[in-house]
Amino acid sequence: MDRHELVEYVRARKDGIVSTIGPDGSPQAAYLGLTATDGGDLVFDSHASARKIANLRRDPRVAVVVGGADRTTLQCEGIADVPVGAEREACARAYLDAFPRFQASLADDGIVLVRVRLHWARFGDYRPGTSSSEDVELHPSVRRVRADEWETARDLRLDALRDEAAGIAFLETFEHASAAPDQLYRDRTAHAADGDEVAQFVAVDGGTWVGSVTVLVQRAGSVDYHGTTIERSRAALVGVYVRPDQRGTGLIDRLVETAADWSRARGVDQLALGVHRDNARAQGAYRRAGFAPSGVTFTSSIGPEIEMVRAL
Ligand SMILES: CC(C)(COP(=O)(O)OP(=O)(O)OC[C@H]1O[C@@H](n2cnc3c(N)ncnc32)[C@H](O)[C@@H]1OP(=O)(O)O)[C@@H](O)C(=O)NCCC(=O)NCCS
Repeated sequence: MDRHELVEYVRARKDGIVSTIGPDGSPQAAYLGLTATDGGDLVFDSHASARKIANLRRDPRVAVVVGGADRTTLQCEGIADVPVGAEREACARAYLDAFPRFQASLADDGIVLVRVRLHWARFGDYRPGTSSSEDVELHPSVRRVRADEWETARDLRLDALRDEAAGIAFLETFEHASAAPDQLYRDRTAHAADGDEVAQFVAVDGGTWVGSVTVLVQRAGSVDYHGTTIERSRAALVGVYVRPDQRGTGLIDRLVETAADWSRARGVDQLALGVHRDNARAQGAYRRAGFAPSGVTFTSSIGPEIEMVRAL
């Protein structure tokens, strides 16, 4: 079972047992209506005064069991929070899709919408003739692109170029990229799949591509995509993108580490990138991944950029 199948499973059942941790450390379980967001978080509501809410505010660890009646079960563990803003809206949408009759109560201040971000789940199937259990693949897999995937690579690229941050993230425009011939994407993806000087890594969640980074080996003496002569051989990270519903999940760290491993294996000892001065979120992610400003600044077609580097 992967995360998409988990979402379908929970949505089909719409209820489960939720266990929280009481004030003295003892488990406290409750039977609840619940559902899942597209991203695989569990969502339920509760009276703000319920003991489970007090428990979760003290200790957000939660265990949930869904199913059982048909001899299949889903055991889950995760961390609960009370989302706000756009994240609450996404949870509320999922909740009301499952339970439209709670539209009015969800607007009541006395009702709290709880999200559980899962870090572990196991699917058990004990129907007649079967006896199996398997851990659910909760995280997108990260791998190198394949040459025959140029259309999916193009679709992800076009989505990235429509992102609200695109104007401070990518040198290429959506208009330019969408007008480019298929052959460009075929060639680009073939190189990124098999080349020694360029590699694209993609994050795939079920069947959906949710993120990508591309890494270019820049040998000393060559000229980079900004027209600058490279003094010291290194690798450059470009085309960094994670879909909005996967941001803040740590996926970017896995993509960067995969690119770093590949670069190291190419014999370079530095990974570099350019990031717009105002792209604070990307800079935050890069700092966490070990990058620091090199002191080099430059102006590109998207405006003022800073160079960030990390040793490999
Ligand atoms: C850039 C991108 C890949 C980062 O992935 P992400 O999952 O969003 O990154 P994370 O949330 O893990 O990390 C962002 C960091 O910046 C911080 N941050 C978030 N928004 C911020 C803001 N407005 N100002 C300052 N810091 C911010 C976060 O707290 C986090 O730091 P922390 O881990 O120390 O708390 C993703 O946001 C993206 O695809 N953006 C659109 C395209 C883009 O900008 N690409 C980069 C081009 S250089």
